Amino acid sequence: MERTLSIIKPDGVGRGLTGEVIKRLENSKMKIIAMKMLKMTEKQAQGFYAVHKERPFFDSLTNFMSSGPVVVMVLEGENVILKYRDLMGATNYKEAEEGTIRRDFATDIEKNVVHGSDSQESSDSEIGYFFNSFEIVN
Ligand code: CDP
Ligand code: MG
Repeated sequence: MERTLSIIKPDGVGRGLTGEVIKRLENSKMKIIAMKMLKMTEKQAQGFYAVHKERPFFDSLTNFMSSGPVVVMVLEGENVILKYRDLMGATNYKEAEEGTIRRDFATDIEKNVVHGSDSQESSDSEIGYFFNSFEIVN
């Protein structure tokens, strides 16, 4: 069993897409084992995306990610890291497969509705960034 971190980004929450995203991941048999809504400070967003701190989009991204509430979840399932990445679609929604969340709802390469961990390593550290063991139910 794998775990992954999912975030419904401020554009997704703000546009009323929370239920739609949750419905899609439940329909795909990904089990939600932790969930909360929060609003990151810019510092918290910078910490979360620290791997990207040298990238040209870092300031804009961390400003966006701290601009409004997000819904953060831990998903569990077999091969869930890759399965959830597939459900999200490519970073650039224009390159995302049809039927993916990003293809259907993203408006911009930055405002692409959802985040998902990209590896076991990042999933471990990203889950630990938002949740302690008492907040994860299984
Ligand atoms: O989210 P994902 O893992 O697919 O992509 P990433 O390469 O880890 O980038 C993190 C986030 O930065 C993306 O989801 C976009 O919101 C944003 N980004 C951007 O604004 N411009 C880019 N050229 C690449 C990423
Ligand atoms: Mg990433």
